Amino acid sequence: MHTYLRNPFSDAGSAPASPGRVIAVVSQKGGAGKTTVAVQLAGGFHERRASVMLVDLDPQESAYRWAESAPLLDSDLQLDVRKMSGLELIKHVGELQKEVDYVVLDTPPSIYHPSTLAALAVAHLAVIPAVPSPTDLWSTLAVERLILNRMEQSHRLHGCILPNRVQNTALATDVLELLHEFTLPILDAMLCQRNAYPQSAVIGGSVFQLASGADAAQGEVRKLIAAVLKQLGEH
Ligand SMILES: Nc1ncnc2c1ncn2[C@@H]1O[C@H](COP(=O)(O)OP(=O)(O)O)[C@@H](O)[C@H]1O
Ligand SMILES: [Mg+2]
Repeated sequence: MHTYLRNPFSDAGSAPASPGRVIAVVSQKGGAGKTTVAVQLAGGFHERRASVMLVDLDPQESAYRWAESAPLLDSDLQLDVRKMSGLELIKHVGELQKEVDYVVLDTPPSIYHPSTLAALAVAHLAVIPAVPSPTDLWSTLAVERLILNRMEQSHRLHGCILPNRVQNTALATDVLELLHEFTLPILDAMLCQRNAYPQSAVIGGSVFQLASGADAAQGEVRKLIAAVLKQLGEH
């Protein structure tokens, strides 16, 4: 069974005219920022008045637990989160796409987990958060190999890399190093190492719900949404 926390869009009008787009956030390791990126994507789409659903495929239920903190927020700011297995996702994704503009998938920390493979089977876009450090680089290369392999099977799937927890600036040498190692495109966006991201987890929302001091993080998430829309061909 899915647990349906809440639906802030129940009064938002009619269902989307075209099927919703499915975005999977994947990485091989825990700690790369999958849940953070998935929640901020959902918050960023919501801020643009698009309807969005976050599906938690991680048996550790991180996005779901994140959202459980949300009673601290007004109900119209709460994220719509469901937890599902990979099989349930495959079965129900068509219905979800009729309900919302964007379905964001948070996945387990293994690219071989059946739920991760299910996510890649239904996604239009796989976003790989990559921490620009040598050890993370190796595991990101392994994820990239899988995505490139899946892209050969499914022509609708595209993959891209999102530098996360970046220290310093956009010109940091570690990010430039990343750019040279990968075949998949690096998104024209990045999330820096900022307190706003863990802080938004405490209130069960995205950086758009933080009262103050989150301008830089909000700017990063807006840029992330614009870059994701570009990858989806929706400028
Ligand atoms: N850009 C960031 N800035 C600061 N902390 C971050 C950032 N991205 C992730 N984190 C923190 O790193 C930890 C792991 O992130 P999480 O999203 O749970 O990773 P995953 O879902 O891949 O295991 C969490 O404590 C999260 O708050
Ligand atoms: Mg997680």
